[in-house]
Amino acid sequence: MRAVDIIRKKRDGGKLTKNELSFFIDGYLRNEVPDYQMSSFLMAVYFSGMNDEETVALTEVMLSSGVVLDLKDIKSIKIGKHSTGGVGDKVSIILAPVVAAAGIKVPKISGRGLGHTGGTIDKLASIPGLRTNIPLSKFRENLETIGFSIMEQTEEMAPADKELYALRDATATIESISLVASSIMSKKLSEGTDGLVLDVKTGSGAFMKNLEDARKLAQLMVKIGNSEGVRTVALITDMNEPLGKAVGNSLEIKECILGLRGRCEPDLMEIVLTLSAWMLYLADRISEDMETQMLNGHLLKRYKDEVVGYINNGNALKKFIEFVDAQHGNPEAVFNLSLLPSAKHIKPVKAPRDGFITRLDAWAVGQASVLLGAGRETMVDDIDHAAGIILNRKSGDHVTEGDAIAVLHTNDDSRIKEAEEIFLSGVEIGDRAPAPRKLIREIVF
Ligand code: URA
Repeated sequence: MRAVDIIRKKRDGGKLTKNELSFFIDGYLRNEVPDYQMSSFLMAVYFSGMNDEETVALTEVMLSSGVVLDLKDIKSIKIGKHSTGGVGDKVSIILAPVVAAAGIKVPKISGRGLGHTGGTIDKLASIPGLRTNIPLSKFRENLETIGFSIMEQTEEMAPADKELYALRDATATIESISLVASSIMSKKLSEGTDGLVLDVKTGSGAFMKNLEDARKLAQLMVKIGNSEGVRTVALITDMNEPLGKAVGNSLEIKECILGLRGRCEPDLMEIVLTLSAWMLYLADRISEDMETQMLNGHLLKRYKDEVVGYINNGNALKKFIEFVDAQHGNPEAVFNLSLLPSAKHIKPVKAPRDGFITRLDAWAVGQASVLLGAGRETMVDDIDHAAGIILNRKSGDHVTEGDAIAVLHTNDDSRIKEAEEIFLSGVEIGDRAPAPRKLIREIVF
């Protein structure tokens, strides 16, 4: 077998076998296949695509390049959750303690943010002292005793994805649905869960800008998960507007804590409740009939009510405090939000006219937030944990000229004007309130 023949076969639209994929990917990790051949291969995949069978095989090869967590000795059912990323997407930080309060184990391996989408690890790092680079033994202990743990991806988990992702970034081959699906699923399957709920975002602030692509990605990831014996459900959710009111790390942690205290913004609450409900369902599922009841809403409502109960009785907040404490964070910060980082410079963004907000574009808000220091433009950039944006108004709200639609937070005011301009480029105000957004667009399983 020669690397060049595999590249040619894919270039000409051929279907690759698992053996061929394994030869190519494993050879790359052993430095036997050079970067220039891997780059051509990625471009060939980008243009020729891969069928579902090839994508499943590629995922298996990438998964077996590293370790899969063996959590079998933890007896309770384990359900994972993953989001393809969005602006103000802090769902995991509320959902993990909520689902743990229901007695389900939630092992969560998360990433840092890149570009306009935030990462769970960066958000958590704004809690003084909190560590996510914990040893695997501590991760397991937290999972057993608290019910959830969140750690950074280690070098040993799906290393092929780490290498390939960096090369895809540099060769304009990120946007291939097969490559995205195998990249995400190789990491998620290495978590060793029994079930998985995926939040596939669609809209201006998401990776998949249109519903059709989001649907293809969701279907492919669900197929990969199920074919590997991990029961997988994907919810396609709206990301044309940021979730909740806070964008930026420390600001989002404050919003999560308020949410766990029962004061969650309605759009954020809807996503947390629905995803949590599907996780509870996957943990309980014993018959096809339950699936029908989830879809017709009866069972979904019951699970959502159960989840609300864990927030209202304080059990989810208690789990979160235990987590912060166990991962070396200062639990006092959960009670006293002034212990979380706050910015030196604060600037309101004023409404240019009277009317209803008809658009509050997630991409523009995300870009403005990066300019304020809340996100990275490259993987090696530092971030300002206090930076970000509070949205005082969202689409559908009425404003009077001069009202503060949002407040910008930063420690470096050199780009505040540019951030304000980008923010305002994403705002539209009209005479009539827009139709309410449909947050949950589709369910795929
Ligand atoms: N997130 C990933 O983990 N991989 C991709 O390819 C795209 C988004």
